[in-house]
Amino acid sequence: MRAFWSLLAVAALVLVGLAGAAAAGGRVILALAVPYAAFAVFLGGFCWRVVRWSRAPVPFRIPVTCGQQKSLPWIRSSRIDNPFTVPAVVVRMAGEVLLFRSLFRNNRARLAGERLVLGENKYLWLGSLAFHWSLLMILLRHLRLFMEPVPALVNRLEQLDGFFQLGAPPIYLSDIALLASLGYLIVRRFRDPMVRYISLFTDYFALLLLLGIAGTGMLMRYYLRADIVSVKQLALSIAAFHPVVPSALSPVFLVHLLLVSTLAAYFPFSKLMHAGGVFLSPTRNLANNSRSRRHVNPWNYPVKTHPYAEWEEEFREKLKEAGIPLEAEHAGNARTD
Ligand code: HEM
Repeated sequence: MRAFWSLLAVAALVLVGLAGAAAAGGRVILALAVPYAAFAVFLGGFCWRVVRWSRAPVPFRIPVTCGQQKSLPWIRSSRIDNPFTVPAVVVRMAGEVLLFRSLFRNNRARLAGERLVLGENKYLWLGSLAFHWSLLMILLRHLRLFMEPVPALVNRLEQLDGFFQLGAPPIYLSDIALLASLGYLIVRRFRDPMVRYISLFTDYFALLLLLGIAGTGMLMRYYLRADIVSVKQLALSIAAFHPVVPSALSPVFLVHLLLVSTLAAYFPFSKLMHAGGVFLSPTRNLANNSRSRRHVNPWNYPVKTHPYAEWEEEFREKLKEAGIPLEAEHAGNARTD
């Protein structure tokens, strides 16, 4: 049912896009108002979440580690898996962000009859890696729509991506990788009963929205050719805050833009924020040096204590009357003895 509602939501967005493209003022709303509003929500929401996270108290070093901590010189420590210095933290973080190292170590737990069997599961790692890298490649290639002249790096990426010259226009490898990985990530949620059980509306919605964006994008590139000159005119004018809406924008492009805007506005309030959160995670971004350095909680306030000596002084007479031996006197006697 959750997958169904997500599919329905994405289908409704596509219909809204198509209806807006056909309506009189709809094109201006879809091409200008919606992208500007979505971008503002994205920026505001992203900053709000990052600021909130960065203000969360982290009084202790709490790095999650998978190796031997640095201690005595003759015990070999794991420099990257249990980072002791900031450069080592950066290396570990780079491995996490660029190669999804912790996902690579992911294990699958299954019951085989009565026995719990742990096994390797590299498919999720491979699917996620393919998805994120192809998405990055596509976003970098899209820069040609927003920049004039197009940077040499973007042209080079485009050549590399279409290297095999399959079809006309050449099919991008990143498009194939994106479709295949998205397909895998969706099918995985249906196929595995345990994953299906924990999957929420937002899990399906994010994937289906991305599939909708990729689908409309590819439709424009390989079948219903978009007028790239008009798209570029719109994109440049939007980026320069002098918006112009060319008349040749196709309905598929407007749907593509609406889906992208929805994704942008939804991003800061969804699990997709892991893109920013990974850098702010105290379990990842702290060096594990608590053994060698004393970390004092910076917002510790001075605590008013009442030590025994003071207490004894306060009740000295009463204690004496009750015949309870006094430590102060006892210590004095011990000294004179
Ligand atoms: C999350 C953001 C976006 C994603 C994931 C995305 C994805 C895609 C994909 C997969 C394609 C197929 C061809 C290719 O890989 O280049 C495509 C094409 C296209 N996209 Fe996007 N897109 C995004 C944002 C945008 C934006 C903001 C615009 C316009 C301002 C845009 C305009 C286009 C156009 C015009 C094409 C056709 C390109 C061609 O014919 O070569 N896209 N998009």
